[in-house]
Amino acid sequence: MKSLLSLHRHVAWLHLFSYLVIVLIELIVLRSLSGTPEANVVRYLTFFTVVLLSLLVIRRRIIRPIEEMKEASLRIAAGNYHERLPTYPTIELNELAQAFNQMVATIESTEERRVALLGDVAHELRTPLSNIRATMEGLIDEVLPPEPDSFFDIQREVARLQRLVHQLETLSRVESDRLPLNRQSLDYARLVQSVCDRLRVQYEDKGVTLTTDLVGNLPSLSIDPDLITQVLTNLLGNALQYTPADGSVRVSVARQRDEILTCVTDSGVGIPPDELTRIFERFYRVDKSRARHSGGNGIGLTIAAHLVRAHDGRIWAESDGPGHGATLSFTLPVQ
Ligand SMILES: Nc1ncnc2c1ncn2[C@@H]1O[C@H](COP(=O)(O)OP(=O)(O)OP(=O)(O)O)[C@@H](O)[C@H]1O
Ligand SMILES: [Mg+2]
Repeated sequence: MKSLLSLHRHVAWLHLFSYLVIVLIELIVLRSLSGTPEANVVRYLTFFTVVLLSLLVIRRRIIRPIEEMKEASLRIAAGNYHERLPTYPTIELNELAQAFNQMVATIESTEERRVALLGDVAHELRTPLSNIRATMEGLIDEVLPPEPDSFFDIQREVARLQRLVHQLETLSRVESDRLPLNRQSLDYARLVQSVCDRLRVQYEDKGVTLTTDLVGNLPSLSIDPDLITQVLTNLLGNALQYTPADGSVRVSVARQRDEILTCVTDSGVGIPPDELTRIFERFYRVDKSRARHSGGNGIGLTIAAHLVRAHDGRIWAESDGPGHGATLSFTLPVQ
């Protein structure tokens, strides 16, 4: 924007300068004209008309578009992000206008995301806060007995708020790419096995079988172990959360050309086809009531997707639909 304003200032000076040069040339031409006075007048008028016309063309095709750009950039700076520039006949100016429009489109979508995030966060805070307030009021009015259950309700909601704040902090760091990757060359299969071992107790408690299918002889990967552990914990946590008792979850790791493919397949509730990509969006939950009951914030997969992409990998979901389980897969490149 600043450079556009300074360009405009330069062009304005150029404009003035070109007038001065032309007046000077006209004076020189006038002095050097020879011939009859009538012929001189005709020559001079022709010359003057040509100069005037070219100035008008310069003004229409260069000066005015740049003035328009300057005014548009001032309106955008004042918050009007819907502003767009028209197309121009000059190729260079048109390219500048298109680049300008792209920049404004990016600013507009960033602004929309910021506003949406504020709305989402407010919405997510509302439910636990209302629950805490209702329980507190019940206790104060002595409608609720001052028993451990009432206090546990409050503690559960406070824990949910703390988890949300922690997830938002992580999300803010991964979305702004402020999360440094502490890459280490390590045995990936061993990392996956250790995450599975750590979660096995929770699986046993719920009665969900957890099996692993780790191909031997995998090359060592250069990854951030903490961040990839977070991705695996997220996927395995979801698989457990959305698989009822007596179900099963299988984790498989295999090499596919220059990538290591990790799949977490569960026999759980499944995902409708039109929501397979949406579940990676911030705060997106397939079943709001079910997620509310289980305390999900709809942020886990958004963070996981950012972390996988930060490792130059891909992440996606597959499912044969509700009731038919789901497979969440991601790749990590082999260096
Ligand atoms: N394995 C799965 N089976 C079925 N649905 C799933 C599975 N994994 C994710 N989902 C759906 O995707 C949504 C988003 O998942 P995500 O992990 O981002 O959020 P969450 O589990 O609801 O909450 P949290 O942020 O606490 O993890 C979930 O609410 C759920 O509806
Ligand atoms: Mg989750």
